[in-house]
Amino acid sequence: MSPSSPSSLTEAFVNIKASHLIVASVVFIVYFILHKLYIYPFLLSPLRNVPGPSLGHPLWGQFPKVINSESGLPQREWVKQYGPVVRVIGPVGLDRLMLLKPEALHKMMVADWLDYPRPGFLRKVLGHVTGYGLLTVTGDEHRQMRKAMNPAFSIPNLMAQTDMYYDAIQGLVDIFASQTISKEGKEIQVYDWMSKVTLDIICATSFGYHTDSLHNPHNELAEAYEHLVGLQSGPNIAMLILTMVIPGMPRFLQSELAHQYRSLFTHIRILAPLSTLIASMHSIKRISAQMLKEKMKESIESGMVEGDSELSGKKDIMSILVRARTREVGSGYRMSDEAMMAQVLRFLGAGHETTASGLTWTLWLLVNDISSQERLRAEVGPVYAQNSRPDYKTLRDMKWLDCVVMESLRVMPPVPITLRKAAKSDYIDGLFVPKGTLFWIPIRTINTWTNVWGDDAEEFHPERWLNLPKNYNSTFSTFSFIAGPHMCIGKTMAIIEMKAVLAALIASFTFEPAYEGQTALTAAAITMKPTDGMPLKVKRVQDL
Ligand code: HEM
Ligand SMILES: *[C@@H]1O[C@H](CO)[C@@H](O)[C@H](O)[C@H]1NC(C)=O
Repeated sequence: MSPSSPSSLTEAFVNIKASHLIVASVVFIVYFILHKLYIYPFLLSPLRNVPGPSLGHPLWGQFPKVINSESGLPQREWVKQYGPVVRVIGPVGLDRLMLLKPEALHKMMVADWLDYPRPGFLRKVLGHVTGYGLLTVTGDEHRQMRKAMNPAFSIPNLMAQTDMYYDAIQGLVDIFASQTISKEGKEIQVYDWMSKVTLDIICATSFGYHTDSLHNPHNELAEAYEHLVGLQSGPNIAMLILTMVIPGMPRFLQSELAHQYRSLFTHIRILAPLSTLIASMHSIKRISAQMLKEKMKESIESGMVEGDSELSGKKDIMSILVRARTREVGSGYRMSDEAMMAQVLRFLGAGHETTASGLTWTLWLLVNDISSQERLRAEVGPVYAQNSRPDYKTLRDMKWLDCVVMESLRVMPPVPITLRKAAKSDYIDGLFVPKGTLFWIPIRTINTWTNVWGDDAEEFHPERWLNLPKNYNSTFSTFSFIAGPHMCIGKTMAIIEMKAVLAALIASFTFEPAYEGQTALTAAAITMKPTDGMPLKVKRVQDL
């Protein structure tokens, strides 16, 4: 081979080029990795001097610790150690920030909420499990949708709806009574029943639909939600997030094809939960579509007509919204009846498991504080002796009941943590935060911050609410429903519903640990579902 032949020269050139290219690429990739993992977070990030834990895992940062712990607890430990402004390094060197002070929360959640939306992956996951709706939209679209939905949650409507809770509540009381005939009482899996009663209540109040999962052990909707909620675990959520960011994946998982071949996922261990996810979502969607169809038919037949006053006629949320809508003239944003009803269906996902967890932990806290439980029985007992369907005002005005529910929501918030992302660079409470930074909104940590609540902040003491601490701020000292335009639309409803269920149970039953030394843990990643279904020993008050 002659070195001067043009072809070999080209070849040599190409070879040199190729090897250079490879070397250059390797150098680049190594640099890129080093940059992402170490150079940026430790030398360049504007947040590098903010206090916080060490890197953790060289690739995943503190992520493994977060997903393998009880939800919200590592964050609380970090705040205890580093104070109200904490920076944690997450996967591939990305910054996470936690800000606890009211000023910071006010800016992110209220004043400049549009600059701090829920991160895209969270919207994708929520959108997948609850559907497109208030939880997944932002900006103008959110404002208009929220405006259309708000009327259904007005106080007069909630007052009118309270009575609708009692079919389910009395069903529950009867079931507990029939299970506890023996004087020794009976061990009952409390979480399962709370989940059923709240499902029946939300179906009744949302669409006037009589689910009666309480009396149907294999109610398909209840089972689908049970499976869905059971999927929650740090690693599963992480897998789901990774899956959802693959383009086309969210749509594929919703498809008939995926449903048909879902069992294939069970062959790959880490993907196995997808099969359950697909099956549950499929059932929920099918039953929802059925409810929607019936409701549409009913609304046409009964002619939910213009001019009906808000409180006459059916009192479920869907009927109220359809009536409110037909009365509203000339507004720019008009959802179709069907779109509106589809929206109401989302409340099922947002309002069922949360309230069930809230109730379950309230019972647990009362099991561990017998004097608070007895004090509650002394308050609700006489009320129930007179009327077993107390109305909105009666429930609202029972003072100790209020203390118990507020305190439970404070120490065991059903949604322990949520997320936000900086859509632009800005100063928050004096700290420069670059665009793209991910925020934990550590609800459970905010609720139990010693600066506000004192050294016993993590303990359950309902009497706090009779004499609030001097640093208490009514918007930012407990954050169980967050604040601002994205504040939980169901907040007042959830609180009154919890009171109605709790009061009925405490008036008729006593609750004790199921066994000596019982402890309880949350399995949860998104909500606070207890790991073991929460067995408790239940006895009838009349037998005491
Ligand atoms: C104790 C029970 C409940 C708790 C602790 C709770 C908590 C929350 C939290 C923390 C958020 C904000 C999530 C975020 O922005 O990252 C939220 C939003 C929401 N909740 Fe609830 N919730 C409860 C019950 C309910 C009920 C009963 C309903 C419906 C009837 C409901 C419907 C919604 C909706 C639609 C949103 C989205 C609001 C928006 O972005 O505009 N929730 N909830
Ligand atoms: C709570 O904190 C916010 C933000 O700092 C402030 O604007 C508001 O006035 C405070 N409210 C009370 C009752 O202290």
